[in-house]
Amino acid sequence: MKCLGIESTAHTFGISIVTEKGKILSNEKNTYTTKSGGMIPRELTEHHYSCAKKVIDKALATAGVTMKDIDLISYSQGPGIGNSLRVGAITARQLSLLFNIPIIGVNHCVAHVEIGRKLCDAADPVMLYASGANTQIICFENNYYRVFGETLDTGIGNFLDTFGRKIGMGFPAGPELDKLYYKGKELIEMPYTVKGMDLAFSGLLTSAINKFNKVKGNKQKENDIIYSTLHTAFAMLTEVTERALAHTEKKQVILGGGVGCSKPLQEMVSKMCEERGAKLFVPPNSTMIDNGIMIGWLGILMHKNGYRTPINSSQIKPKQRTDDIKVIWR
Ligand code: FE2
Repeated sequence: MKCLGIESTAHTFGISIVTEKGKILSNEKNTYTTKSGGMIPRELTEHHYSCAKKVIDKALATAGVTMKDIDLISYSQGPGIGNSLRVGAITARQLSLLFNIPIIGVNHCVAHVEIGRKLCDAADPVMLYASGANTQIICFENNYYRVFGETLDTGIGNFLDTFGRKIGMGFPAGPELDKLYYKGKELIEMPYTVKGMDLAFSGLLTSAINKFNKVKGNKQKENDIIYSTLHTAFAMLTEVTERALAHTEKKQVILGGGVGCSKPLQEMVSKMCEERGAKLFVPPNSTMIDNGIMIGWLGILMHKNGYRTPINSSQIKPKQRTDDIKVIWR
């Protein structure tokens, strides 16, 4: 079985072709970026529509297949930005009707967990899912991927992008912030908000912007603020992940989401795992950022286990939660 996976929850329009055994035949994408202003929903729609055909054609060509070789089309049904999700769902329906191929709508967050488990051969990890809109600590318990802790306001990636934008960076700001993190020398005290198992970033964001503006022009002091801001945010994530490990008595941690690619975050979580005797898995960056591979792979898992999405119930679900999906394939 070959599945064509369509990812379009936010900035990335991605197409991948994956086999039943998890072999990745191709992985193509086109990502919306801006020099200022963050993600503008109307522009996201235009971006995804304008690149869709090119990305699909490239993914088919790289895999050396045509649509006639595809047995299943899987698409991100939620959660995500409506404008983006809609392009993926419509593309899935069009291809389905044109080539008479079944479609399956899958949950983007669950897809991150499953591709991580598959590629890292991690049996039962705690996932720190740190992306733009999503920040969750996810563990498998009684047939569901349960959310043990999550952000109460903004996702860590959106927090970093907003901070970056306010201090004059383009979108996405994460890679540039990471570089400057290592230039910081002094750790300045910042608001640290962990409530039970949940996190909040808005106080830290306001404080970081205000502190940055006060030292603007002094490069070293600016870098100290960036270092302290990221250090505080990542320490919050690491604390909640550690407590999820302690509570569930699991021995593995896996990273997911675009912020999972951050070296400072990886170093901090790695140190925590080392001290607890847990193993950290870091999937390839290409599958931590948004991608079609994980959508195709979860589509195969769900389809093989009886999940079906008839066209007339293939609507997008922008607010669908990780723990809405019954996991019958584990
Ligand atoms: Fe994601």
